[in-house]
Amino acid sequence: MSLTNKILINTQPHLEYLGEKISIIGAGMVGMASAVSILNRRVTKNLVLVDAFGDKVKGEVLDLQHGALFLKHPIISGGNDYEATKGSKLYIITAGVRQIPGESRLNLTQRNADIMVKLVPELMKHSPDALILMVGNPCDVMTYVAWKASGLPTHKVIGAGTTLDSARFKVNLAKKLNINPEDIHAWIIGEHGDHSIALWSSINLSGMRLQHINQQIGTVEDSEDWIQCHKEVVGAAQAIQELKGYTNWGIGMSVAVMAKAIISNELNVFPVSVNAKGKYGIQDDVYIPLPAVLGCNGITDIVDLHLSEKELTALQNTAKVMKEVQDGVNL
Ligand code: LAC
Repeated sequence: MSLTNKILINTQPHLEYLGEKISIIGAGMVGMASAVSILNRRVTKNLVLVDAFGDKVKGEVLDLQHGALFLKHPIISGGNDYEATKGSKLYIITAGVRQIPGESRLNLTQRNADIMVKLVPELMKHSPDALILMVGNPCDVMTYVAWKASGLPTHKVIGAGTTLDSARFKVNLAKKLNINPEDIHAWIIGEHGDHSIALWSSINLSGMRLQHINQQIGTVEDSEDWIQCHKEVVGAAQAIQELKGYTNWGIGMSVAVMAKAIISNELNVFPVSVNAKGKYGIQDDVYIPLPAVLGCNGITDIVDLHLSEKELTALQNTAKVMKEVQDGVNL
């Protein structure tokens, strides 16, 4: 009799507890930051990592598995074979090339689209019912590419969008107000990138709209320069890339919060990339970040924002830019 059997009297077969499976595709800096954030938030007990570099991903998996003691014993697995992702509830796609400092996200479009066009159908073969959370850049255009390549209905293909941009914006605004960023309500929409739009008309603290108190807020005429809070959002990734070569922690943490909303059907509102056709006078299948409700069925609702005239024009212009970029992609 083995030592185990001497000290544990077995009464039942050992079934592996398998919660909803999340598969992260791409075990680079963003994929790994997402993985750690997901594990620490206890989003799932069943995490799979896949990367083209098999040894690298196996090393990452082994390293994470040693943290099981601190994480209520999740199952972490992975390698370079998509078979491991079979039956996923959610694919988080972080694979692809990243910007070099000074490069725009939109510059990556065709290179990453080529990767997505091969990758996404492969994922769908293994998990036809999965949802996709696109993180690769340019995020909004890649969400469109993933939608096209997956054949999924539009509510199941979600881009991380401006969730991180909105977080950065709130952090900047809250610093000026000396409060917790959770308590300032502010939205960035339009593009995870240089054409992002800050919705100054709706920023509020405890229901008090800042623009009612300072009509110049968000304009160059404002002597208090609140517009800087948005300028810093637009320049944030580049500022970080110049210092450390890439960004990963902010995006990883925001991915975990969105994944939790999906897996646990939390129905929180996030500014995620969605198909904007039929909204705000947009006629085409163009993917842009707009506030939307996230749950276990993906996007259940898109918030019908009451925009100022200036914001609406900015949104329509951004949609035009995004449509042009989408149309320029060879699928
Ligand atoms: C950033 C990357 C994720 O903004 O685009 O940090």
